[in-house]
Formats: sequence, structure tokens, C-alpha cells
Amino acid sequence: MKNDHHQHLPRQQLPLHHRSFWKNSSNYLRNPKPTAYFILLILTYALGYFTASSSLSSNKQLTSPPSPNDSASTTPTVVNLVTTTNNCPLATSSPILDKNNDHNRFGPVCSTPVPPEIIRSIIINRVYNGTSPYENFPPPHVAELLRPKRVKGWGSYGAVFENLITKTQPKTIIEVGTFLGASATHMAELTRQLGLQTQILCLDDFRGWPGFRDRVDYVPVQNGDVLLLPQFLQNVIYLNSSESILPIPFTTGSTLQKLCEWGVMADLIEVDAGHDFQSAWSDINRAYKLLRPGGVMFGHDYFTKYDDKGVRRAVDLFAKVNGFKVNVDGQHWVIE
Ligand SMILES: C[S@@+](CC[C@H](N)C(=O)[O-])C[C@H]1O[C@@H](n2cnc3c(N)ncnc32)[C@H](O)[C@@H]1O
Ligand SMILES: *[C@@H]1O[C@H](CO)[C@@H](O)[C@H](O)[C@H]1NC(C)=O
Ligand SMILES: *[C@@H]1O[C@H](CO)[C@@H](O)[C@H](O)[C@H]1NC(C)=O
Ligand SMILES: *[C@@H]1O[C@H](CO)[C@@H](O)[C@H](O)[C@H]1NC(C)=O
Repeated sequence: MKNDHHQHLPRQQLPLHHRSFWKNSSNYLRNPKPTAYFILLILTYALGYFTASSSLSSNKQLTSPPSPNDSASTTPTVVNLVTTTNNCPLATSSPILDKNNDHNRFGPVCSTPVPPEIIRSIIINRVYNGTSPYENFPPPHVAELLRPKRVKGWGSYGAVFENLITKTQPKTIIEVGTFLGASATHMAELTRQLGLQTQILCLDDFRGWPGFRDRVDYVPVQNGDVLLLPQFLQNVIYLNSSESILPIPFTTGSTLQKLCEWGVMADLIEVDAGHDFQSAWSDINRAYKLLRPGGVMFGHDYFTKYDDKGVRRAVDLFAKVNGFKVNVDGQHWVIE
């Protein structure tokens, strides 16, 4: 996008040069006294004009515009910004890869990690004022709208879950993007089979997205309010996992920020919320701050039709900025 902007800037300026040239020259022609100034002025403008057009053409060679298909490429498009019109020095290294660039900064380091054993009570106290969301569930006015179990997921049962849980033996898992709990309940089942005492924190605003009901018409709605959270709680209870799964029903950005402040860290983090570049970039960077040493972060849609929306570009850029390697497991990306 910066590239685009710089491409267009010199072109927009050309008519400006012409406009001021004619305006000024007609003034000076009516008043013959400052002829010397006039000639000087013409020379100055001419010089500026030629400088601008020559740097425009060299700029074009340096930064070719991204083709519309670049968005799907596996490597991020890294653009060297070249300033042409205001005499600023040329950038020597790519600002996109500079770790101090604002786009790569996601706040201060997190608080000292709290022991995993107290994470569940921290969340119940701080998020739910001391009362588990499973307590007295479901309330009567909701009970009649729910189904005993309604789970739908996307790649939620891939081998990557078993591979990474076996590998990391996690005490804490953070899932960024949960929907109806397909992957969360799958992970709970895997940890149970391995005899682990794992807490899984599920971050989701439980709103879905505008228009998602075109594809998901079986989640109840009340006065326009989609009851994803109650159906999720119902699914977790049905699958006997309420002791190991806790939802945090707010936006991923605000929740990841708070977990960082509270020192809530994880051994395994799954990122599967917003799939546009900006959402994925933010989630990945914020989530990574919560990863314990030796932990693993992974996410969906590196190799599906959705990767083109931006997940793959966000993952690849994150790896490039930080010097990490991206591994692939089925449709998932994995960074260790
Ligand atoms: C693809 S679904 C998650 C699927 C789940 N991991 C599974 O495999 O079963 C994405 C979820 O991310 C949630 N989401 C997207 N953007 C979000 C945001 N900014 N804050 C909170 N949740 C968000 C949506 O509500 C949706 O439930
Ligand atoms: C982009 O990809 C499509 C389909 O693969 C192709 O038809 C089109 O010519 C490509 N456009 C460019 C600018 O490369
Ligand atoms: C939070 O819990 C305390 C003690 O259990 C109670 O007195 C208070 O009213 C609760 N606050 C809210 C907002 O529910
Ligand atoms: C949940 O636990 C109950 C009682 O122990 C058991 O009957 C039921 O089969 C379990 N359900 C699942 C899905 O494991």
C-alpha cells in the first residue's frame, strides 16, 4: 500500500507544477521589473520538474507495483520505501522488517507468569466475578432454545492437535477463536487420554461474523442475539469437559492484552479467529507474547482457500520479522 502511494505521488504533483508555473509567470509578465527573478523562477521550476520525473522513473525500477496475485504468494511482499520528492535520504533497510517499526510493536513485556494451577481461578475471579459460567447452566429461558450438542468446526480434528499436545504436554492451552468448541473439545479429549491436567482457555466474542448464518443456521437467536456462547457451554457440558475448558467471551485483542497483564501464559496456543491479514497479524503477535519458553504456537488455514485472505501472509511476515521458521502440519502452520 505504501508502495502504491509513492507510485502515485509524483504523478499527482505534475499538474501542480504546471499550475503554479502559469499563475506566477502571468503575474511577472505584467510587471517587467523583476525579469531576473522570473527567469530564475523558471529555471528553478524546470529543475524541480526534471528532478521529480527522473526520480519517478528510477523509483519505478526500484519498486515494481505488486500484482493482484501477489497476495496469494507464499512469501510476504517486502517493499523498500524510497522517498523521492522531499529530499529525505533513501531508506537503507526495509522498515517493515525493522523490529522497532510501530507495526511490529505490541506493547510492553507481560507480567511475571503465574503458576498454571491458579489460572482457572484467576479467570473465574477476574472475568466472572467468582462464579463459573457453567454454574446453574442453562437458565430456563435459554434451555428450551439449545440443542443437546451442536458442534461444527473447520479442520478441528486434524492430526496437528494430537501431534502438538503429545509433544508439549501442555498444562495450559490458549485457543484464539473457538466458535462452537469443536477444536477445544477435541483438545480436551486428547489431554484426558494422555492423563494431563490441562486448562484450555477459549477466546472468542461468540458473535460469529455478519452473515455467518447463511452457513450456520442451527444456532439459536433471540432478538437478533446469536446464542453462540450458551450453545458452546452446552456442548462442553455434554462432552464432560467443563472442568478443563473455560471461555473468555470478549474480543481477541482485548483478551490477549489482559492475559498479558495478568501473567497468564500457555504452553500451546492455537490461533484461528479473524482470517484477514490485519486480524491474524494482531492475534499472532499478541498471542506470541503469552507463549512459555519451549511452547508452540500454531493455527489454521495456511493451506486452504482461506489462506489468501491474509493468514499465510501474516504468519510468513511474523516469522520473517522474528527470524522464525514456519512448519506445516496438514492445513496448519506451526511455529516452535
Ligand atoms: C473459524 S472459527 C474458530 C473455529 C474453531 N477453532 C474450531 O476449529 O472449531 C473463528 C472464530 O473466531 C471468532 N472471532 C473472529 N474475530 C474475533 C475477534 N476479533 N474477537 C473474538 N473472536 C473473534 C469468531 O466469532 C469465530 O467463532
Ligand atoms: C492472476 O491469476 C489468475 C488465475 O491464476 C490469472 O488468470 C491472471 O492472469 C493472473 N494475473 C496476473 C496479473 O498475474
Ligand atoms: C461480585 O461478587 C461479589 C461477591 O460475591 C458481589 O457482592 C458483587 O455484587 C458481584 N458484582 C457483580 C457486578 O456481580
Ligand atoms: C459424560 O459423562 C457421563 C457420566 O460419567 C457419561 O455417561 C457420558 O457417556 C459421558 N459423555 C461423553 C460424551 O463422554
